[in-house]
Amino acid sequence: MELKNMENKDISKGVGNKINIGLFGFGTVGGSFYRILDIRKKEIEAMLSADVTIKKIFTRGNRNPSIDNIGNLMVNNADDILNDKSINVIVELMGGIDPAKEYIEKAIKNGKSVITANKALLAEHGEGIFKLCKKHNAHIGFEAAVGGGIPILRSIKNGLAGDSITSVFSIINGTSNYILSKMTNEGGKFDDILKKAQEKGYAEADPSFDINGIDSAHKLVILGRLAFAASISLKDVIIEGIKEVSDIDICFARDLGYKIKLLGILKNDDSKIEIRVHPTLIPSASLLSNVDGVFNAFFLNAKFAGPISLTGYGAGGMATASAVMGDFIEIGGKIINSEKHHDIFLNESSNKVQIKRKKDIISRYYLRFSAMDRPGVLAKISKILGDNSISISSMIQQGRKIDGSVPIVITTHEANEEELLKSIELCDKLDIILAKTMILRIEDNVN
Ligand code: HSE
Repeated sequence: MELKNMENKDISKGVGNKINIGLFGFGTVGGSFYRILDIRKKEIEAMLSADVTIKKIFTRGNRNPSIDNIGNLMVNNADDILNDKSINVIVELMGGIDPAKEYIEKAIKNGKSVITANKALLAEHGEGIFKLCKKHNAHIGFEAAVGGGIPILRSIKNGLAGDSITSVFSIINGTSNYILSKMTNEGGKFDDILKKAQEKGYAEADPSFDINGIDSAHKLVILGRLAFAASISLKDVIIEGIKEVSDIDICFARDLGYKIKLLGILKNDDSKIEIRVHPTLIPSASLLSNVDGVFNAFFLNAKFAGPISLTGYGAGGMATASAVMGDFIEIGGKIINSEKHHDIFLNESSNKVQIKRKKDIISRYYLRFSAMDRPGVLAKISKILGDNSISISSMIQQGRKIDGSVPIVITTHEANEEELLKSIELCDKLDIILAKTMILRIEDNVN
């Protein structure tokens, strides 16, 4: 895309050297987008050689209270934007599937390009929306849907376009990372810390999406599609949240030299793709384990470029709006240059890949048994593990009694998940096991 010396270009699409934006949503991110355009209008217009204006704004009610003087831009009906021929880009920052999906599809059919931060919509309906863009020659940008202000999608799409990504270890939910970091660094119970995260405004309106791993899974699906040029859907993701992680697991993990993080993991071993979100033990000495609080992080491995990492704000108004503006400038340039829709990563030839099912996963495991404190317990557990080809790597039994039972922590060497689950099912049937065994995966090489 050439953004300079465009005075003599034939600007044929839409409205000449003007780009008019229709903004859907004027909450934290929408208001911040408005503010960034206000602050950087001159530079942005110079980059695009075009006048850039937010022409109309539609919201469903919640409006950024810190910005006034926009009364004349507000419209009560979404169609006032969608049918306005002078608007060539819509910026959708409402979130949720409905009615955002309907608005985006209508905008594309009406020849408008789209910028969105809507991770749920893209994870669940992205492939249909991309096809529609192709059919109607519309551009789409969604950098802000993954990792807030971190330019991870652009890095994969452009910077690493000539490379082949083999793995991504990511922290992509600030709320979960905040909760686990607090539990690790300061102690405290899950519920109390979640309440604080909600008060501080980190968590989603429905925080269950944050803590049960769905929000991370939405982002990982989008990331996986780009990283592997693959057709991936939400049902392909192994999803486990952090609700079951207790302070006792955090203490044992520390004793073993690990921290527990909710990771989004992508692996490509040339034959099958792994895509999973779950609490994971990672070495305390790793850089990734030290990404704390609401920060997000992406630790990638590329075949030729080697290891690459990006960390930063995964949420927040200005950070997320920065990513939206980056998309706007890229798409604005394409509109001014009358470029055709072209995105090699989003077309129908996307690889039909094989996804590893849970039973095929090979991993190391952390197991916490809740056992009766009596002779022979360990022998019974280790016999079952041995009979199922699960090899023990370490064992801790320190007599910390919890609710009448004694925790026995075992870490395994690499094992097949199906065999592991089968043996834990057998262990949990023993009369000496008093509660469901806690199973967490261990990843030793995350950066
Ligand atoms: N609820 C999300 C998080 C916000 O906690 O990371 C950004 O998608």
